Amino acid sequence: MSPTTTKNRSAYVCNNCGAQSPKWSGRCADCGAWNSIEQVTLPPKATTRPGAGGYAGAAAGQAARADLSAIHRLAEIAPEQEVRRPSGIAELDRVLGGGLVQGSVVLIGGDPGIGKSTLLLQASAAIDANPAFAASKSSVLYVTGEESPQQVSLRAQRLGLAPGGLNLLAETCIEQILATAAAEAPRVLVIDSIQTLFTEALTSAPGSVSQVRETAAQLVRHAKLTETTVFLVGHVTKEGALAGPRVLEHMVDTVLYFEGESGSAHRLVRAVKNRFGAVNELGVFAMTDRGLRQVSNPSAIFLSRHAEPAPGSVVLVTREGTRPMLVEVQALVDQSPLANPRRLAVGLEQNRLAMLLAVLHRHGGIGMFDQDVFANVVGGVRVTETAADLAVLLAVLSSFRDRALPVDLAVFGEVGLAGEIRPVPNGPDRLREAAKHGFKQAIVPKGNVPKGGVEGLKTLPVLTLREAIDAV
Ligand code: TYD
Ligand code: MG
Repeated sequence: MSPTTTKNRSAYVCNNCGAQSPKWSGRCADCGAWNSIEQVTLPPKATTRPGAGGYAGAAAGQAARADLSAIHRLAEIAPEQEVRRPSGIAELDRVLGGGLVQGSVVLIGGDPGIGKSTLLLQASAAIDANPAFAASKSSVLYVTGEESPQQVSLRAQRLGLAPGGLNLLAETCIEQILATAAAEAPRVLVIDSIQTLFTEALTSAPGSVSQVRETAAQLVRHAKLTETTVFLVGHVTKEGALAGPRVLEHMVDTVLYFEGESGSAHRLVRAVKNRFGAVNELGVFAMTDRGLRQVSNPSAIFLSRHAEPAPGSVVLVTREGTRPMLVEVQALVDQSPLANPRRLAVGLEQNRLAMLLAVLHRHGGIGMFDQDVFANVVGGVRVTETAADLAVLLAVLSSFRDRALPVDLAVFGEVGLAGEIRPVPNGPDRLREAAKHGFKQAIVPKGNVPKGGVEGLKTLPVLTLREAIDAV
C-alpha cells in the first residue's frame, strides 16, 4: 500500500492510558495494562486537524513543519480571569469550583441510573432561569442521545421544572449537533451521553474508543472556539473507569464522578480533576421522588446515630475538599474460624487497615491474629485521607474490648508506623465543625490543637498511640 492511501488508516490504542502503538499486543508497553489495546480507525487524513486536539501521533508527525509558531513571553501575557457564572445549584457550583467556566468542558461520570441525566436536566433548568446566562437565542441546548424528547419532557414534568426556553435536540451525529450549536449559540451545551455520539468520518460503532475520542475532541474544540460550557455525560464500566479511553479525562477541563450506594438515597458528586478549582471537592445530594435535592449540611445526614453508645463506633471529622464533615466509622472484631483471619474495609483503604492493625500490635501491645476485623464508613462515604487512621484504630479497639466510646467524642489524626499520632491539615476547622454539631470532647493530634482551644469542646491532645489508648 502506498503511503498516500489514507482510506483505512488504523492504529492500536490502549484503553487505559491512551498510548498508541503500531500493532496489537496483549499488554500495553506504556502502562502495563493487560488486554487493554483496541484497534481504532483514524479519520481520513484530510479531515483531521492536527494540533487542534487531534491524535497525539498525528500531531507528532507534524512536528517537522517548516513554519514556526509564535512565541509569547509569559510575563507579557495579561492573565485574563476566566468568566464564571454560578448555575444556581449550589452543590454543583461547589464541585465546579464556584460556578460554570465559560469555554470549559466538564465530564460527568457515574454508574447507570445514579442520576447524571437528572442532575443535568435540573441544572439546565436552573441555568435557563438564570438571567446571567441569557444568550441571543437560547441559554441551554440539551442534546439527548439516549432518551426521546418525550422521555425527557416526562422527567422534567416529574421534577416539577419550568420548561421555559430549554431547547432539546435528539441527535447523535456530531456534525449535526455542532451545526445546530453553531446556529443557536447556546451558552451551555449538554451532551447526554458521549457514548451515543458518532462522527461521519469514522465507520466504527458509537461508543467505540475511536468514536468517543474523535467526537469528544470535536466538542472540546467547539467549546474553546465558541466559549460554550460543555457538559459531557460519560458511562462507567464495571471496573469503575469511564468507558472509552482514559484519554477522555485528559481532554476535558473538569471530571466529576457520581458516587453513592444503590441502597442509599445519597449521591455524592466528586471533582477528581479540575483545571479551574480544587479537586476532591464534594457536592452532596439526596435522590428524592422529585429529583436531586441539595444537602448543604452533610454532617447531619451521615451522622444519624443511635442515641445509645455502641461498641465499635467512632465519629471521625474528615474533610472533603474545603468542607469538614462528620462521619461515623464502625468496626467489628470477631473471633475468626479461619486460619487467615479476614480484614475487610468498606469506604476505607484495605491495606491501610492491615497496616494500622500491625501498628496497634507493635506499639499498643494489642494483637488480633485470631480475629476477623471489619471496618466501615457509614452512609456510603469513601474516606481516602489518612486522618481516618486514629478513628479506625479506636473503633477496632472499642469493638475488641466491647466497650462503647462516649457519644460526644469526635476523633481524627494520622497514625505513623512508629506509633506516633501525626497532625493532619486544617485541624482547627475540623474541631470547630465537631463543636458546631454538639460534640463535647475530641481526641486529636497535639499539633492540631489551636492555642486558645475551641469553644465548647474539650480537646485531648495525643502524641502517641499509647496516649490515645489511655485517653479512652
Ligand atoms: P438518571 O438521571 O436517569 O440516571 P443516569 O442518567 O445517571 O443513568 O436517574 C434515574 C434514576 O433516578 C432512576 O433509577 C430513578 C431515579 N429517580 C428518582 O428517584 N426520582 C426522580 O425524580 C427521578 C427523575 C429519577
Ligand atoms: Mg441518563
